[in-house]
Amino acid sequence: MRLPSTLAALAWLGGFQALLVNAIQTISAVGSKFFYEDGTQYFLKGIAYQLIPEDPLVDTAQCKRDFSRMAELGTNAIRVYHVDPNANHDGCMEALAAVGIYLFVDLDTFDTWINQDEPQWTHSQFDRYKAVLDEFQKYNNTAGVFVGNEVINTKEGSAAAPYVLAAAHDIKSYRNGKGYRNIPVGYSAADIAELRPMLQNYLACSPNSADRLDFFSLNAYEWCGSSSYETSGYKELQSLANDYPVPIFFSETGCNVARPRTFEDQAAIFGPEMSNTWSGSIIYEWIQEANDYGLVKYGPPSGASSAKILVQDGFARQGEPIPVDPDFHNLKAQWARLRPTGVALSDYIKSTSSIEPASCPTSTPGGWTVDSHQPLPTLQQAASDMAGVRPNSGFGRGPDSGSRPGHLAARVTSVALSNYHASRAVNSASSGTRAFDRLAGGSLFLCMSIGALTLWL
Ligand SMILES: *[C@@H]1O[C@H](CO)[C@@H](O)[C@H](O)[C@H]1NC(C)=O
Repeated sequence: MRLPSTLAALAWLGGFQALLVNAIQTISAVGSKFFYEDGTQYFLKGIAYQLIPEDPLVDTAQCKRDFSRMAELGTNAIRVYHVDPNANHDGCMEALAAVGIYLFVDLDTFDTWINQDEPQWTHSQFDRYKAVLDEFQKYNNTAGVFVGNEVINTKEGSAAAPYVLAAAHDIKSYRNGKGYRNIPVGYSAADIAELRPMLQNYLACSPNSADRLDFFSLNAYEWCGSSSYETSGYKELQSLANDYPVPIFFSETGCNVARPRTFEDQAAIFGPEMSNTWSGSIIYEWIQEANDYGLVKYGPPSGASSAKILVQDGFARQGEPIPVDPDFHNLKAQWARLRPTGVALSDYIKSTSSIEPASCPTSTPGGWTVDSHQPLPTLQQAASDMAGVRPNSGFGRGPDSGSRPGHLAARVTSVALSNYHASRAVNSASSGTRAFDRLAGGSLFLCMSIGALTLWL
């Protein structure tokens, strides 16, 4: 007779333990900063994580191997570019939560991203964005979502900005309508000198918060090797972000031109010049692949034979993570000594009522082309239908606009074309590569999936 109650007690204890394991505070955007529920400020020490193109958050065993290494590194955020909203993510999200790591996830994918050359915001794009939000809103450690990654990737691309903002507006309103938690909705921008600070300001200048991003982030590879706050360009980035009304952070950083990587920019981002404005950074990237940004490579998981490891493009994408040294330990050492405390929410909240929206940029012929006072495009409205906003299809097809440091062009040539997510992440310097990606994205994805299957020996 005692057995059932013992079992019940064990089950109850098990459930309780699972609850404890899962308990992680949510992150909110307040004013220009992120906060934990307990009112301490949250700074991202993040890593870009995309082992395979379709979704790296479905293989729980792999997640556990990776995330315990990430915890050792001092990581508290990952960025994932592509997920499958129909897959089950419980195992990986719990493995993240267990080590205090938050997820920033892109809502778009290979066939739903907003295209700078023919910008539109359609029902099928919106449906896909909703599906990803529906799936990930249930996890307390989902800290933010991106409505786009480098949608605008040349200085001629500003006419696509209203579509990015329309996507943010609609997904925020969907989030609120569903009664979901206020998961911050942001955008991950390419670092285009000619559009600074217009793009950043446009996305946060409406007096109505429904028409602003909840955060802005920048993919910036300006700081290479032993540079400085003054000479790297970070001082300029800081001066343009000083009074930014919503959180801002680096959604990709970690130039790899100077070897080994020392991640000295982290000291500036988390130091006195920038940490009052910036909420940290995401280092590109976890896995070592053709673009040579990896912090780990993979060996066979203990107890398994190497024949079982998934290989694509000649790189193992599964197994036991092995630090790429000294880079891994350099980053670990940087993060270990950089511990900004920021401000307590209880103090900060007193000043948030004085925060003003950014000032809306004015349109200039041949430069920033968007009239900030035009209403946002509605669903299904194509650029050609929009009065006052010129479609952009004639632009952006030439060689690199020259707005990016020269090393980026070199970097792009070393990116395997089949390495789709990575090339999207780093190829802003080359519209030629981008154009290829756009044409080939869908079929490439199919080829890669087939390739992955055949390589799964
Ligand atoms: C998620 O957070 C909410 C409130 O912040 C809390 O009530 C809930 O228990 C949390 N869920 C888990 C699984 O920790």
